[in-house]
Amino acid sequence: MNRKIIPALLASAVTASACTIPTDPLDNNIAYPFRAQVQNATRPEVHNKYMNLFEAGGGDRHLFIGPVGVPTYDLTLVDGVINHVPDGVRAVIGGEIDHTTKMFMTGRGDPRAIFKPTYACNPDTDALQIELRFVTWQDQPTGGHICVRSSFEESHEFRYYPPGNTLVDPNRECIKVTLVVIPTTDLPPQTSTTLSTSTIPATSTTTTSTRTSTATSTPSSAPFVDLTSSGFRFVGCAPEERWTTDGAFRTLPDASTSTDTNTNAACAAFCTAGGFKYAGTEWSRECWCGKAVVATRWPATTLASLEGCNFRCTGDEGEICGGDARLSLYEKCDSGEACENVVFT
Ligand SMILES: *[C@@H]1O[C@H](CO)[C@@H](O)[C@H](O)[C@H]1NC(C)=O
Repeated sequence: MNRKIIPALLASAVTASACTIPTDPLDNNIAYPFRAQVQNATRPEVHNKYMNLFEAGGGDRHLFIGPVGVPTYDLTLVDGVINHVPDGVRAVIGGEIDHTTKMFMTGRGDPRAIFKPTYACNPDTDALQIELRFVTWQDQPTGGHICVRSSFEESHEFRYYPPGNTLVDPNRECIKVTLVVIPTTDLPPQTSTTLSTSTIPATSTTTTSTRTSTATSTPSSAPFVDLTSSGFRFVGCAPEERWTTDGAFRTLPDASTSTDTNTNAACAAFCTAGGFKYAGTEWSRECWCGKAVVATRWPATTLASLEGCNFRCTGDEGEICGGDARLSLYEKCDSGEACENVVFT
């Protein structure tokens, strides 16, 4: 590494000690394997933790720090985009928009999160480190930053905080973090028990089996449960908000809850108690209710449309509770009419 000293910088910006920042620009490609560490020295609950990959539906990987997901030692940077080649995924931004937007990894064409490798000094040790400074996401204005916010099982999930964001929820703080490249010279064996899937909820496995099942019967692997005897029919896998241009934030905007005991029946009961006609489960643990479905979000009746609903319920691994930005949508049957699930073809 070619480390050139900048005397002026050292003299002016530095009090006691500071690492020497090389002047040679860093390439936007990092071919050696690395871990991604998050830093925010004022926030010990996230400081120096590592980005884990959590297997989600459709081959996607969601990004967490804390006990959720699998420690990942072999990330690379390709044209400023974080890649995990073994899974064929790269970091993108989109989906699950509320006050911030999700950053996750996928093989699909969602807008990439673009980073610029930049030398900096470690806030604790003063050692030279390479940070991944957030630049933009494809086709979007530059600016904003990456942050992490509290999620299930004491974890934090990665989010993108847009520039000039006014949609701040004081109860759902998103902690601004610096992403740091930690080169992994000695790769631990990827099959060791420390890298097992023990911390991954059941959503991580067997998603393919649920995606091929038909909707005309309801074995445990079918993407919905038959609630007709309790007055709800399954109407499909409805899209949730995906892009800021989607209009309405939520497909079922009127009430919601998030629990470790989520099932479709429990959600239907929750929404019934609130007097709502529609109940939808999402993201394993969420239950959403609506008086109506936002018009542009009505689900299709094709088998293919069910594929996005592939997360298992927190309260019952045998059931599907929506997916990533997808609701397993149930509708209260009108009294007097036959209560039948939609048939998917
Ligand atoms: C740490 O997080 C707080 C809250 O998001 C933020 O205001 C602060 O700028 C962050 N510090 C760094 C160094 O990123």
